[in-house]
Amino acid sequence: MAGKAIVAVKAFYPGGRRRTASDRGNRGAGLKQKVLVLGAGGQLGRELQRTLPAGVECVPRMRAELDISDAVAVADCLRAVSPQLVINAAAYTAVDKAESEPAEAHRGNAEGPGVLAAACSEQGIRLIHISTDFVFDGAASQPYAPDAATAPLGEYGRSKREGEVAVQRLLPEALILRTGWVYSSFGGNFVKTMLRLMGERGELGVVTDQVGTPTWAHGLAEAVWAAAERPQLAGFYHWSDAGVCSWYDFAVAIYEEATALGLLSKPVKIRPIAAAEYPTPAQRPAYSVLDKTSSWRDFAMEGVHWRQQLREMLADYKEQADA
Ligand SMILES: NC(=O)c1ccc[n+]([C@@H]2O[C@H](COP(=O)([O-])OP(=O)(O)OC[C@H]3O[C@@H](n4cnc5c(N)ncnc54)[C@H](OP(=O)(O)O)[C@@H]3O)[C@@H](O)[C@H]2O)c1
Repeated sequence: MAGKAIVAVKAFYPGGRRRTASDRGNRGAGLKQKVLVLGAGGQLGRELQRTLPAGVECVPRMRAELDISDAVAVADCLRAVSPQLVINAAAYTAVDKAESEPAEAHRGNAEGPGVLAAACSEQGIRLIHISTDFVFDGAASQPYAPDAATAPLGEYGRSKREGEVAVQRLLPEALILRTGWVYSSFGGNFVKTMLRLMGERGELGVVTDQVGTPTWAHGLAEAVWAAAERPQLAGFYHWSDAGVCSWYDFAVAIYEEATALGLLSKPVKIRPIAAAEYPTPAQRPAYSVLDKTSSWRDFAMEGVHWRQQLREMLADYKEQADA
């Protein structure tokens, strides 16, 4: 798996802090739980299964096995599996498509979490629900705290916010973890799109006036397990990797790191462009940096800088491609 690549990266970044498998084992040693992971086929769902702490029995369910908006199926599944904890990594994540499919986005991101929260409440099961930085409008100039006012700009963000509200109303003891700019070796994401385009083209324009923090789903999964280990935690938390960048900065880093690993072999000119030059159906926040102070404290886990995480993800991606 990724272990060897991660060790190599760690050696290159001697100052970098990276959890090892034994750290994870130690962390999870006290956690004897049966955990139902929903959206198990997605980026986070898959990384949750790869980072499983010792002592946790994970029961993964993909969309084809359980649609979270189906109240009868959800209640039946919870009764049959009888977990101590449900992690909801399922969501409608097509940000632009949501503008033309608002009902579909609402079903997956608002109704589904409501159904889950109601069923967890009825059966006395803890819920960790994942949400997004897109609940914010991006007008801020300092990182968004978990209690900052929400004002989503598009259908995806609106539907995710409705999901948060439903979860809080039906199960106030749920933990809602917001994240942003998620990527991994699995599924579609910005990093993999950039790798493909950089392999095909000699020049690329990438947006420079939208700023946030990339999040490797692997590290996000570790943060979710840290939260899982602390059943007393409830309410809103934020998680992304550490640091800040624009999509342009992220693309330049992807190019440099992928070239160093031999994933790209020819020069590509990356041009900074304004978001206005690259219109998309959904408006995105210009600034969506999340304040992780409370998570770092309460999960007893500090974030790793996004560039180091990117390097580790690319090593992982290469290792899987080579296998
Ligand atoms: N990706 C990002 O950049 C990003 C940014 C901020 C927050 N988040 C949040 O982080 C969480 C995990 O995202 P991700 O990147 O892992 O997403 P992902 O890769 O798109 O995975 C989501 C999974 O949920 C499944 N799903 C969709 N609707 C469902 C339903 N009604 N019932 C059951 N399963 C359903 C999808 O199945 P299909 O593929 O078959 O539809 C997919 O396997 C989500 O809450 C997302 O909103 C993601």
